[in-house]
Amino acid sequence: MPVSIREFEALARDRLPRDVYDFIAGGADDEVTVRANEDAFARLRLVPRVLRGCGKPDLGTTLFGAEVTLPVVLSPTAFHRLVDPEGERATARAAAKAGTVMITGMASTVSVGDIAKECGRDLALWFQLYAQSDERITRELVGRAEDAGCRALVVTVDSPVFGRRERDHRNGFHDLPAGVRCENMRDLGGRPGVRDIEMVADLSWDHIDHLVATTGLPVVLKGLVHPADAVAAVAHGISGVMVSNHGGRQLDTVVATIDALADVAAAVDIPVLADGGIRRGTDVLKALALGADAVGIGRPVLWGLAARGEAGVGEVLELLRDEIDRAMALSGCASVQQVTSDLVSCEARFGGFSTAQVPAGRTAERPKYNPVRGPSGRTPSGNLEPPITPPTLPDTTPVREPRC
Ligand SMILES: Cc1cc2nc3c(=O)[nH]c(=O)nc-3n(C[C@H](O)[C@H](O)[C@H](O)COP(=O)(O)O)c2cc1C
Repeated sequence: MPVSIREFEALARDRLPRDVYDFIAGGADDEVTVRANEDAFARLRLVPRVLRGCGKPDLGTTLFGAEVTLPVVLSPTAFHRLVDPEGERATARAAAKAGTVMITGMASTVSVGDIAKECGRDLALWFQLYAQSDERITRELVGRAEDAGCRALVVTVDSPVFGRRERDHRNGFHDLPAGVRCENMRDLGGRPGVRDIEMVADLSWDHIDHLVATTGLPVVLKGLVHPADAVAAVAHGISGVMVSNHGGRQLDTVVATIDALADVAAAVDIPVLADGGIRRGTDVLKALALGADAVGIGRPVLWGLAARGEAGVGEVLELLRDEIDRAMALSGCASVQQVTSDLVSCEARFGGFSTAQVPAGRTAERPKYNPVRGPSGRTPSGNLEPPITPPTLPDTTPVREPRC
């Protein structure tokens, strides 16, 4: 059995057709952000504490009422049946067994209702949505997620158009094979058959306001990296944000998510999740230290699924659990709440801000975003500044892209 997520990737590469492997591994343009997501974790160094008598760390936490046994959720990824005949059903069973949240994608090849039936109440299921230009279609999708018992709606906001993935163009990988479809898009709006997922070029806060007004579910925005957008999200009634650059698949050269995380977390008091480039327990620890309440993994789940089906997804999650457990024990952290920002050597990020100046307690370590002094928001004395008001965003022209 593979002993690391990297080895799962190697096994998946051996097993998958080249175009499918590339579809998963690849990103936009020159893939600068794909690489940066991982490299940025390697650049950060840990500053562990000793002699705290912590015992066995408690990895559990609560996310929108769901108790999870580790601070890692499954980020939404499209088309699981490309890599395993059971697809998202197998992924869901593994997530349920591991005791964590699965964010199932709108571009799932098993419908959200069928995923829910597979695991029942054992699985904390959230639904990822791309708002559609026809509000009735969006509403119907949200209704399906609600009926399936989803406990949160994760709205992806980094995709008004598709990123251009050159590997897919090179490989001519543009269509799903026969029999594999986006099942959530079937029979919508009274029209039989499967619709394409539409990317809405004029996606704006109006779409978000409409969603917040029409669902009782907590709405999480996925795909923002700017603290001002996180502040705006709070003003628009959003319950949580997911700092993400879509795994480097949308706009290339976007900042690595771990480099954006601290400033976003400092700007808001709602739950903050982050994904992109997490491959090790130490990566999870760094993200928690920099303000994430939990992290998401995308490609590692698909590698596990491609390599060994349901068991592989479970093994990826258990590997991470084991690594987080060890990293916390070796850092003197008894619980997720005890993972504080002084665990990360962040002199470079905070302009010489030394760990001795970091106040104790995780909440107090979240300075508010200060547009005048820059994103770290700290005055020389370490005081916190009030949040900025949300910006008004310009209108853009609608364009449609006809692909899942
Ligand atoms: C093959 C693949 C498909 C994805 N599909 C979606 C999607 O349909 N919706 C979405 O919001 N994010 C999607 N993502 C992005 C993931 O949710 C997540 O942000 C990203 O994979 C995190 O980076 P990581 O793969 O390095 O963990 C996809 C990512 C991959 C690799």
